[in-house]
Amino acid sequence: MSRMPTDKLIERDRALLLHPYLPDSVTERVVMTKGSGCQLWDIDGKEYLDATGGLWLAQVGHGRKEIADAAYEQMQRLEYFTSFWEFSNDRAIELADRLVAIAPDSIDRVYFTSGGSEGNEAAIKMARYFHWRKGNPERNWIIARDRAYHGIAYGGGSATGYDLYHDGFGPMLPNVAHVTTPWPYRSELYGGEDPCDFLLNELEETINRIGPDKIAAMIGEPIMGVGGMLIPPDNYWTRVEALLKHHGILLIFDEVVTAYGRTGEWFAAQYFGVNPDIIVTAKGITSGYSPLGAVLMSRDVGDTLGSDGGFPMGYTYNGHPTACAIAMANLDIIENEGLLQRARSTGAILNAKLETLLDLPIVGEVRHVGMMLAVELVSDKATRAPLPMLQPMIPDVIRRETGVIVRDCAHNVVLSPPLIMTEAECDTAVTAIRSVLERTNADGTIR
Ligand SMILES: Cc1ncc(COP(=O)(O)O)c(C=O)c1O
Repeated sequence: MSRMPTDKLIERDRALLLHPYLPDSVTERVVMTKGSGCQLWDIDGKEYLDATGGLWLAQVGHGRKEIADAAYEQMQRLEYFTSFWEFSNDRAIELADRLVAIAPDSIDRVYFTSGGSEGNEAAIKMARYFHWRKGNPERNWIIARDRAYHGIAYGGGSATGYDLYHDGFGPMLPNVAHVTTPWPYRSELYGGEDPCDFLLNELEETINRIGPDKIAAMIGEPIMGVGGMLIPPDNYWTRVEALLKHHGILLIFDEVVTAYGRTGEWFAAQYFGVNPDIIVTAKGITSGYSPLGAVLMSRDVGDTLGSDGGFPMGYTYNGHPTACAIAMANLDIIENEGLLQRARSTGAILNAKLETLLDLPIVGEVRHVGMMLAVELVSDKATRAPLPMLQPMIPDVIRRETGVIVRDCAHNVVLSPPLIMTEAECDTAVTAIRSVLERTNADGTIR
């Protein structure tokens, strides 16, 4: 039971809380009080279907008693102690052991954080520090991509490829270069060239322009989430990996969204068949039951950062025992319920249902890998001109009218549901999206 009546809660929310990215056109507050599976309920008892998995992380769904029990047991035994200096705890060690076992072959060391932004911040510092320890302090450039999202701290935020996240916050981190987004549907980005060839040539030119011996790492989301579930061309990542390796540049995979089953594999690196030097994870590691992130790295990177497992930067909650116990219970569910396979099969079913929207004049492309899905909206299918996303935004109207929660990413409607979503729930989501898209005009207004 909430301690405040509904009216008071909403009044105090307006008075006290800052809401990240609150659009001008949204004046209401939706105060959630309960979740179970893919369902959520607000303070008025209204039911919602969570087709975004919170913020792309509720792999095992809401309200899982097994995870609550694991947290309860752990808190009674040891809720927290530091992992600085010589201290450790059994849960953090067990989780690290399990992560290394399920991660790509290259991975052999683990560094815990409390979330994705912290993880990318650590990864960028690790990449620079790695080269510094190897005697190459001038290797401090980071290559990132346009439309990347690497969180909101200053390092990862500088690698983020949107002005929106930089304007007013500058100056950002120096020595960060952005290259073109892999987005095959937007062939205009590549001037008629094969997208993969264009992107690799551009990357090689960028490396040569900066100087290979000045570059620490390239950071990239294997599939760009905030960009709009952008899936790179075939062979893009294997070719990027080979080029970077040739120049001694580290590859950082930002798998904050893609790890822990979302693509149908434990890690998207496995889906694309690459072995990054560093993999940043968070979100799905606990399905959101507790803040936690894990930066995974190769033995070479780990050993170079410090002797005997040391590294001179640490977050208070590094290796938090309760968060690690929650992660273990979450990974148990993913394993025991076959959720990697389920992400593949349900993702294919949901994608097929979304493809039925292609009969609408404003739906240009539907794409997916596992349970990451996007419907790209255009004002003209022939020119592929992006649909203006006016306020109220399409997802807001879908939520208000149908209770189905989806998200906009630029001119895409994106879905990243819990991996346990049923076929009936997929139908509900697609029916809700259609009900608004079929009333959306080519100028972005909704009838
Ligand atoms: C790819 C990616 N990296 C990093 C982050 C930042 O993670 P956090 O919000 O946990 O700091 C996000 C968040 O959505 C993300 O999508």
